Amino acid sequence: MIIAVANQKGGVGKTTTAVNLATALAAIGKRVLVVDSDPQGNASTGFGVGRKDRDPSIYQVLVDGVPAADAVRDTVIPGLSILPATPALAGAEVELVDADRRSNRLADALASLPAFDFVLIDCPPSLGLITVNALVAADAVLVPLQSEFFALEGLSQLLGTIERVKAGLNRRLELLGIVLTMVDRRNRLSDQVCADVRAVMGAKVLKTQVPRNVRLSEAPSHGLPALIYDSRCAGSEAYLALARELLDRLDTPLVVAN
Ligand SMILES: Nc1ncnc2c1ncn2[C@@H]1O[C@H](COP(=O)(O)OP(=O)(O)O)[C@@H](O)[C@H]1O
Ligand SMILES: [Mg+2]
Repeated sequence: MIIAVANQKGGVGKTTTAVNLATALAAIGKRVLVVDSDPQGNASTGFGVGRKDRDPSIYQVLVDGVPAADAVRDTVIPGLSILPATPALAGAEVELVDADRRSNRLADALASLPAFDFVLIDCPPSLGLITVNALVAADAVLVPLQSEFFALEGLSQLLGTIERVKAGLNRRLELLGIVLTMVDRRNRLSDQVCADVRAVMGAKVLKTQVPRNVRLSEAPSHGLPALIYDSRCAGSEAYLALARELLDRLDTPLVVAN
């Protein structure tokens, strides 16, 4: 199953969610690929892929037709691979405008790979061609929403984009769910925002909420997912719970790694 982690707002927890949910799924025994689809390359950094070790990257795969298998590499986490990104990816947005199958480049590339149980695509903070490629490649979209005052702002635009891609380019695309991030239970505003989002979006909001947790923000500077950096912190526990909740939702039998 291919999941796009998308929200056109920056700083809402897309990369943190992609990296740690992927690690949690791998810890549960799934074969997982993370596709870094953001020119900032934060997911690549989060898995400790150095800036000099990112070629061939997703840019060459999307623009130059380099086989995806040549750009996918292992991480230190068993069962977890990554397709890294470099700043060059920003150029793809423009360079692909007149290209053949410009919206299907990522879908075509992923179709050429051996099967993974899960592919998580970490999208950039925009609704441009790179995000459209992710939505065309995906079976489902996971939307991280930061529990702050403007959380719902922009959501209708994102849902509209998902609907348009579904209508025109990818009929199987579904909204898998919305995950509330950076939740601070001691903060009344954060709690109120969570309640509001649940009132508006109902069952689409996942039960698991990711708390604001400093370990989640420290881990990338060590080139490690939080689940490896500190497997017992509240953030790591939340991402494990999120993985289990998603597997339950997808009705996938839960296989615990030994
Ligand atoms: N639950 C959290 N608690 C504390 N810090 C977080 C949490 N989630 C994300 N962050 C931090 O917030 C910033 C933005 O998160 P990030 O995942 O990079 O967002 P996006 O990919 O949507 O831009 C990063 O510095 C990240 O480490
Ligand atoms: Mg990001």
